[in-house]
Amino acid sequence: MHARSAKLPDAFAIEHLIQVHIGDGTLLPRPLSEICENIRDFTVVENEGEIVGCGALHLYGLHLAEIRSITVTGKSKGKGAGRILIDALLKEARRQSVTCVCLFTRIPDFFGRMGFQVVEKEALPDKLLKDCMKCTRRNACDEIAMYMGTLPKVAGISRRPRAAQEYVQIARQQA
Ligand SMILES: CC(C)(COP(=O)(O)OP(=O)(O)OC[C@H]1O[C@@H](n2cnc3c(N)ncnc32)[C@H](O)[C@@H]1OP(=O)(O)O)[C@@H](O)C(=O)NCCC(=O)NCCS
Repeated sequence: MHARSAKLPDAFAIEHLIQVHIGDGTLLPRPLSEICENIRDFTVVENEGEIVGCGALHLYGLHLAEIRSITVTGKSKGKGAGRILIDALLKEARRQSVTCVCLFTRIPDFFGRMGFQVVEKEALPDKLLKDCMKCTRRNACDEIAMYMGTLPKVAGISRRPRAAQEYVQIARQQA
C-alpha cells in the first residue's frame, strides 16, 4: 500500500469513496465538480493498483490547513491505510510550510493516535466561517475540533489579516 497525489481520472473513485459516508453525516458531500476543481488537494492510497482510500488537505493559508474527506474502503480498514493517508497529508502540509493542521471529526481517538489534540471550535475561525455557518447541523454539531502545530492567531488571507477573535465575532453576527 502506498499514498500518491490524486489525478483527475481518480475523481470518480474519490466521489464514490466519499459518497458512502455522506448519509450518516460522517463526511460532507463533495460533488464531482468540486472534487475535480480541488483534485490537487487530494491524496489517494493504492493497494495493488486499486484505490482503497482518499483524503484531502485544504489550504487556508500559511497559518492553517484542514484535513478532510478521509475515508478507507470497508475491506481495507484496519490494515494501515488510514495512517498512510494521514502521514502523507501531514507531509504535504510540512512541504507547504503550514504551521497548523486542523480537522473536525466524530472519531477523535483515531486522530489522537495520529498526534492531533482536541481544541474548541472557536479556535479555528476559518473553518467556522467556511463550513460551519452553512451547515444545517451547526446548532447540533457532534463533531470534535482537533489540531496539530501552533494554533493560528490570525484568520484569512488578506492585506490586513484580522485577529482570529474578529472572525469569530463576524461568524456569530452571521449565525
Ligand atoms: C477512520 C478510518 C479512515 C481509519 O482507517 P484505517 O485504515 O482503518 O486505519 P489504520 O488501520 O491505519 O489504523 C491506524 C490506527 O488507528 C486505530 N483506529 C482505526 N480506526 C479507529 C477508530 N475509528 N477509532 C480509534 N482508533 C482507530 C487503529 O487501531 C490503529 O491503531 P494502532 O496504530 O495503535 O494500531 C476508516 O475507519 C474510515 O474510513 N472510517 C469511515 C470514515 C471516517 O470516519 N472518516 C473520518 C472522518 S473525520
